[in-house]
Amino acid sequence: MKKIVVIGAGGKMGCRVSKKLMDAKRYDAYFCEVNEASIERLKAIGINTISKMEEIVPQADYVLLSIPDILIGKLSKDIIPLMKPGAMVIGLDPAAAYAGVMPIRDDIGYFVVHPHHPYLFNTERDEDGNLDFFGGKATQDVSCALYHGDEHFYAEGEQIARVIFAPVGTAFRVTVKQMGFCEPGLVESISAPLVYALKQAYEAFVAKGVPADALYSFLMGHLRVQFAITFGLIDARYSDGAILALNEAMSRIFKDNWLETMVNEDFVTESIMKITDSINKK
Ligand SMILES: NC(=O)c1ccc[n+]([C@@H]2O[C@H](COP(=O)([O-])OP(=O)(O)OC[C@H]3O[C@@H](n4cnc5c(N)ncnc54)[C@H](O)[C@@H]3O)[C@@H](O)[C@H]2O)c1
Repeated sequence: MKKIVVIGAGGKMGCRVSKKLMDAKRYDAYFCEVNEASIERLKAIGINTISKMEEIVPQADYVLLSIPDILIGKLSKDIIPLMKPGAMVIGLDPAAAYAGVMPIRDDIGYFVVHPHHPYLFNTERDEDGNLDFFGGKATQDVSCALYHGDEHFYAEGEQIARVIFAPVGTAFRVTVKQMGFCEPGLVESISAPLVYALKQAYEAFVAKGVPADALYSFLMGHLRVQFAITFGLIDARYSDGAILALNEAMSRIFKDNWLETMVNEDFVTESIMKITDSINKK
């Protein structure tokens, strides 16, 4: 059985992937963690043995970095030299690879996987009847990239991705740069602010006296069908009145050059440099 070690196993993502690795029993899994509260979280999911990084990394076939992106540059300089030839390092976000903060060795592989979350329209529920927003119960897709190394690393990486983010629907193959365009490019720098603005507008209409529960229900139902129409999921069109209101509002809300400003490689790179704290180190 191949050995995999999770560094930062007790963090938000670390706990999720560590539990999946334990349950799947497909890999000989080891866990590294330095923080007391994180170690307690690991105990709560049945992981009681914490390995020493210096001892376990040289034996591992796979080293999964589940540490904050801002620490990857610094910590990978200690971790990567310890890895045995033929091993593979796995990141859970494109930022560190995109920013080039990890030391590169030609005798190991570098793979990146990022989970997509279950779809907006997914209605799978967990055993308590709750909708699953993070994956683990509901099916989610993932994006995968081979950042550096021989092609065989890709297949091994995808296999691991399918275990740690199970159940996985489609594993899309992209490049690290394309993954950076997905996040932060689209989902953090554009869709999150749009949703945030929607919440501000909702609150402003509530302040004008619209009952909050009625407005929330109004918005959620309309959002669902607006997504379906706009992305072509259904064969339907907006009413003439809705098209008029939409066209009128676009130019009021958005600056003329908003797309060029936001769908812009330099802007994505700048955000990633901030996320990985590498802006002054390039
Ligand atoms: N949180 C999410 O929803 C999410 C989603 C997708 C991808 N990711 C990616 O997952 C990675 C981890 O993010 P997170 O949000 O889980 O971070 P987190 O801050 O929740 O957890 C990081 C963990 O790393 C531990 N750690 C720090 N230094 C360590 C060291 N030297 N040795 C061992 N452990 C150490 C910390 O104690 C902490 O428990 C990042 O690359 C992030 O971009 C996170």
